[in-house]
Order: sequence, then structure tokens, then C-alpha cells
Amino acid sequence: MTDFAPLDRRGLLAASAALAAAPAFARAAAKRVDPNFPKGFLWGAATAGHQVEGNNTASDTWFLENQQPTVFAEPSGDACNNLELWATDLDIVKDLGLTSYRFSVEWARIEPEKGLFSQAMLDHYKRIVEGCHARGLAPLVTFNHFTAPRWFSAQGGWTAADAPQLFARYCDKVARAIGADIAMAMTLNEPNILLILKGILPPPVWDMQRATVAKAAERLGVAKFVSANVAGPEDVEALQAGLQAGHKAARAAIKAVRGDLPVGFTLSVVDEQAAGKNSLRDKVRAEAYGAWLEIAKDDDFIGVQNYERAVWNDKGRLPAPEGADRNWSGTEVWAPSLAGAVRYAHSVAGVPVLVSEHGVGTDDDTLRARFIPAALEGLKRVMDEGVPVLGYVHWSLLDNFEWIFGYKPHFGLCSVDRTTFARTPKPSARVLGGIARRNAV
Ligand code: FCB
Repeated sequence: MTDFAPLDRRGLLAASAALAAAPAFARAAAKRVDPNFPKGFLWGAATAGHQVEGNNTASDTWFLENQQPTVFAEPSGDACNNLELWATDLDIVKDLGLTSYRFSVEWARIEPEKGLFSQAMLDHYKRIVEGCHARGLAPLVTFNHFTAPRWFSAQGGWTAADAPQLFARYCDKVARAIGADIAMAMTLNEPNILLILKGILPPPVWDMQRATVAKAAERLGVAKFVSANVAGPEDVEALQAGLQAGHKAARAAIKAVRGDLPVGFTLSVVDEQAAGKNSLRDKVRAEAYGAWLEIAKDDDFIGVQNYERAVWNDKGRLPAPEGADRNWSGTEVWAPSLAGAVRYAHSVAGVPVLVSEHGVGTDDDTLRARFIPAALEGLKRVMDEGVPVLGYVHWSLLDNFEWIFGYKPHFGLCSVDRTTFARTPKPSARVLGGIARRNAV
């Protein structure tokens, strides 16, 4: 790895504390990593329905975007028009040299009204799965990537008593439609995201989230509107319980359709590091990941999604070292964080890991182009330590709708013209594609 930001004293202390905690890593770090990935390792790019498809009008998120007040910077609108252009996107994934494609099925399209299932939309996703096979891509399918039908969130979302059973019913339909032909199933995307954001989003943003869902409930004349990634802090605990039961019910429903399909969920994992004595690190880990990593023990794999690290002393999170690389929002990006997150998740869950998201939101594509190989070198090192990693899926294939931040953050391997929807691969896309073709970093 050649791209470490220069560390100041504080950063050095943090880094050496992390190394002391992982002596095997420290020893391995001295050696050049074996650049070759195992045969069959999956190389992919990810999208998510609401972020790319456009006009997801029956979803909870669409409803929240198109009102005042709203926490959303702008509405998703046409997004990347992937509902029509999905085949173009599959062509790009293939042409880059990747071997898998992660996408999500939009529950709001499959079940736009409670109990009303759309065969035409199930067929739509079936065509995407077939399109993957026609191009030699392994379809990696997320059954729920944050968004739910509006009716679901209007009855309390994941906090409602029948939420797990309703989700399982939808998963059964999707599994019957496409389960036989997909490579891996992810029930939920980052069900722990609000636990992570708890300490990151400033109080005014939480206030705005609360105001947003309160307004939605008022518009619909319902008691409570709760969505998976937009909620008031007081709903987070009940949301977690519902999501946990939801995952288990979904896993059972999918397995009942196809028992040998690998099923898991994806977890947002910050590379938490300890600095000094009595670091808060383990407490943070227990809160943000503890319950989910326990649940993952019964899954076939765990999806790890990493974007950053956090260094904790006994008082709180330390600022990034001076000169660190930063993303669009000013947050530090540190390439070895991927390896740290993967090692940790596996050490607790004990199941194979799929890197289901990793990337950087930046307008500086040279940063992305440096970041990808540096992070992959670290990932390979962790694999050489014995951690089973099934594949690496980059977030994202396209510059897309980044939730409350709208279209400002650019995570894509491809830029997207917001008027013509033309996609243009960036140089970093070729970097990842080259690694995938060589199956070596
Ligand atoms: C993750 C989400 C994904 C995307 C990236 C940047 O938290 O799973 O949809 O927004 O962050």
C-alpha cells in the first residue's frame, strides 16, 4: 500500500495501537502481499433500486422527498433511469471486466398496495437476472435496500408488529420469481445504518428527520410513519427489533423456496480502532454491530460495507490526521479501513464475507483510482491471514441518488448526465476492471 496519508503524532498513536491489537497483521504488513485472488472470486459493482431506477412513486422515500419540510436535499425524480436502461448498465459492468452485479428489488414496485403483487414487475427483475447470465455476471440480489412501499411505512414500518411477516411474504414472491437463478441473496441492506449515524449526524439533521416523518404521518392521517433510514431517534430501538425479526423471517422464507441459495444481509461496518487506555472502541462496536453479528452466525455469509475508519480514545472519536485524504463531505478516507472492517466482522460472525459495498464519494476520480488498489491490497492480506472473502463489490456503478444528500455526492465508477442519462466510465472504472480481469491487484 503506497497511499497512506502522512500521520501526525495522534494518528501515529492510533495506528500503532491498532497494530498492537493485531500483531499478525503487523507482521504480515511487512511482507509484500500475494497479488493473486482465488479463482472464482467475485468482482462487481453495486446499485440499489431507488437510487438508480427513477420514479419509484409507490415508495416511502419518494413520499418523503416530495414534501415540505423534508430532510432530503432534493427529490430522486428520474434518478439514472435504470428502470429503462438496466441492459445498458449490465453491458457496462461486463465491458469493464467485472464478473458480478449487485442490484436490489424494489418492494414498492412488487407490492405497490398491501397484498397487491405485480407480476409485470417481478418479470422486470427476472429479465435483469437473465441479462446478468447472458453476460456472464453473477446476480447478487438485495431484497430490501432501505426503501419500502409507502403503505408499509405508513403503518409504522419496521416498528409494526406484522412487519417481519409482511416482509417475508414479499421475499417469498421474489424468491419464487428469481431465486433459482441468482447467486446470492441479501435480505436487508445496512439495517444498522441508523445506529452508525447516531453519532455522526448532527442534532439538527435528526430533528429534521423527525419533522420529515411527522409531516408524512400528518399528510396521510396515520399515527406513525417510519422508514428504515429516515426516523426519529426515539424509534431506532423498535426499528432494530423489527429489522432483526424481519431478516430472520425473510431468511426462512427464501430458504424455503431454495435451500441451497446463500442468504445473508449487509452490514455497515466502520473500521473502529482503539487509541490509548480505556478506549470507547469496544462499546461502540457492541452497540453498532453486536446484535447483527450474532444473527449473522446463522447466515451463509455476511456482506460488509465499509467507507471509513474511526479512531476512539476514552473520551470520543479522534479527528482525522492532518493531510488525510477526504471525501466529498470532508470525512477522512483511509484505504486500509476495508481490511480492518472485514477482519473484525469475520472474527465475530465467523462466516464468509462478501464485500458488498466499498467506495468513496468524491469528485476527484484520481483519489478513487488510488483508493481501490490500496484497499484491495489490504483485503488480500486479510484473506491470506485466513479470512474467507467471496468477492469485492464496489459502490457504486453509477453516480446516483445518495439519499438525503441528493445528487451531490459522486460515488460512481461512471458519471451520469442528468439530462440525457448517458453513462461515462471514469478512469477508476478501468482500474477496477483491470484488477478484475487479472484477478490480481
Ligand atoms: C451506503 C448505502 C448505499 C450508498 C452508500 C454510499 O450506506 O448502502 O445505498 O448510499 O452508503
